[in-house]
Amino acid sequence: MISQQTIQQILSRIDIIEIVGSFVRLKKRGTNYLGLCPFHNEKSPSFTVSPVKEIYKCFGCGRSGNTISFLMEHEKYSYAEALRWLAAKYNVEIEEKELSPELRQQQQVADSLYILNAFAQKWFHDILLSSEEGQDIGLSYLRERGFNDDTIRKFQLGYSPESRDAFAKAALTAQYNLEYLQKSGLVVVRDERPVDNYRGRIIFPIHNQTGKTIGFGARIIKSNDRAPKYINTPENEIYVKSKILYGSWLARQAIDKQDECLLVEGYTDVISLHQAGVENVVASGGTSLTVDQLRLIKKYTNHLTIIYDGDGAGIKAALRGLDMALEESLDVKLVLIPDKEDPDSYVRKVGAAAFREFVAAAKKDFILFQLEVALKDAAGDTNKRAEVVGQVAETIARINKAEDFTKRQDYIRQCAEILRIEEAGLHALVNKFVRERIAKQESKAAAASPAGEMPIGEEGMGIPVPGEEESLNLLFKHEQNERGMIRSLLDFGLRPWDENSSVAEYILSESADFYDLIDNRRLIKILDIYKAWYEEGLEPTVKNFLYHEDQELSTLAVSIMDFNDELSPNWKEHFEGKIATRDDLYKEDVISTLRYLKLRKIKRLMEENQQDLSRPHTEEEQMVLLQTHLHLKQLEKDLLLHLGTVIVK
Ligand code: UTP
Ligand code: MN
Repeated sequence: MISQQTIQQILSRIDIIEIVGSFVRLKKRGTNYLGLCPFHNEKSPSFTVSPVKEIYKCFGCGRSGNTISFLMEHEKYSYAEALRWLAAKYNVEIEEKELSPELRQQQQVADSLYILNAFAQKWFHDILLSSEEGQDIGLSYLRERGFNDDTIRKFQLGYSPESRDAFAKAALTAQYNLEYLQKSGLVVVRDERPVDNYRGRIIFPIHNQTGKTIGFGARIIKSNDRAPKYINTPENEIYVKSKILYGSWLARQAIDKQDECLLVEGYTDVISLHQAGVENVVASGGTSLTVDQLRLIKKYTNHLTIIYDGDGAGIKAALRGLDMALEESLDVKLVLIPDKEDPDSYVRKVGAAAFREFVAAAKKDFILFQLEVALKDAAGDTNKRAEVVGQVAETIARINKAEDFTKRQDYIRQCAEILRIEEAGLHALVNKFVRERIAKQESKAAAASPAGEMPIGEEGMGIPVPGEEESLNLLFKHEQNERGMIRSLLDFGLRPWDENSSVAEYILSESADFYDLIDNRRLIKILDIYKAWYEEGLEPTVKNFLYHEDQELSTLAVSIMDFNDELSPNWKEHFEGKIATRDDLYKEDVISTLRYLKLRKIKRLMEENQQDLSRPHTEEEQMVLLQTHLHLKQLEKDLLLHLGTVIVK
């Protein structure tokens, strides 16, 4: 692991204009730089780089990030690779950090498994190509299915002989230990004797993003009712099923270039499509897609096209994972292969060109497809139809990112048309689901907080229940203020508050327990890390977060810093008319944001107290509760006095 000192050194030298500029032609425009976006095709430049903030954003495709994420995305580096690349560029010597004993242990197991898998993959491959049994049984099977030698080599296919322990013997002779042989799933122990697990099967090695073998799928040759068709590697330190997309190591570049990822079910579908020249394809292994797999796809493209056989059970499984894709802002299309064919047999039958044409023509939007299927099921049944309306509204409600706003509107329009209902009605229903989702998420967050906050529905804040649009605005405002707080800390934390203390110290002391003031768990994580670093004597700046190894945090930091240098929402209204920048008035900025958050907390406490009051009490208890109420009311009044009433309308 690269030490924190080295990372600091590298970060201090980063010049985003120089780095991004070596891949993209940039022209100065005001304080920013502008160029043609390298991540999507465009004719007029909308890719903007800010040297001051050290971030980039494309106003065309929406991608944004920092120097390191640029290298990760553009050059397909991992975080560590990007750091090493920068270190080499700036002549920074890399100091490696000692790993903790547990981590080192894990690392060792992983390393051993990689080495063992590489050995096994080569062994199975050699057996397939060079042994008599391999050729007679394995190779002839693969050839019969139409796989040519280049393809067999490219996918490193193999064959495991029928003998009881040929592989185990070879591996033990080569000094691999039995414990790892079992962990890898290659060997099982029966009656105290090692036995090959994939006997008499075709071997499909499974690789990670960088092309290392992490496991195997082993296919039976003649179908047999008693044995499973495939045996797969069990979960271990390096084989984590939920994160695997078969073929991704070969497909990465093609997916990136074509800005589309095709998803099929099986190993053989991927291989056949490759052989036909369709390379932007991966397989999920026939189960529902996981969030990790979707995120992996999203690294390369926003366009996912699922190609399954029309009547298989697979399509149902695949659809199940797809609502998550909407939350990840992936654009999902669906193609069903007709007539009991699968992509493997179909591309073989019609050829690559016709296959591509078919896919382009048969592509259906996932949401509309789901709607059509459900409507067909409901045919004529009014109750069922109402259910369908509810379902589709719930699905659309998942399209929830600000940048997807128009997409959501489009879906509402199209679905209303298909359902032949009023657009406004569907709109209201979608909004209801959005609200429910937000409330659910927030109450989950509150339940997870040690302070055990109450749920934060609009009622929970003791504010007169606003209309739909208003309540969304309000939630948006809370979020903005929470972000504003963190942004102030990152921007101004190291500046003086008074003679004795810094802004960071003020903020950290004023809100000793952030769990009370901030709902967004990820923002709290930034705070926690800031606090720990600050107490260690480091001087954290926004850079430390922009370049944080945890991509989720760095993405959040980028979005907090965003491009428009807007004032935090409350004091923009407060100080309207004055020509002062946020930079000049950083103390006011901090004070007013804190006030807002505190006010919200008081509102919640009052509501809680109110609920308490409505239950039966002794007179004494009643007194205490009333006093509490008056006290809170006074606090609220004081805060509102300073704040004006602009915030809580
Ligand atoms: P398929 O049955 O469609 O297999 O299952 P396939 O890959 O197309 O193989 P061929 O063409 O019949 O030879 C799709 C995927 O589901 C997983 C595998 O990943 C397979 O590629 N699967 C299937 C299993 O893991 N175990 C099984 O027993 C069957
Ligand atoms: Mn198949």
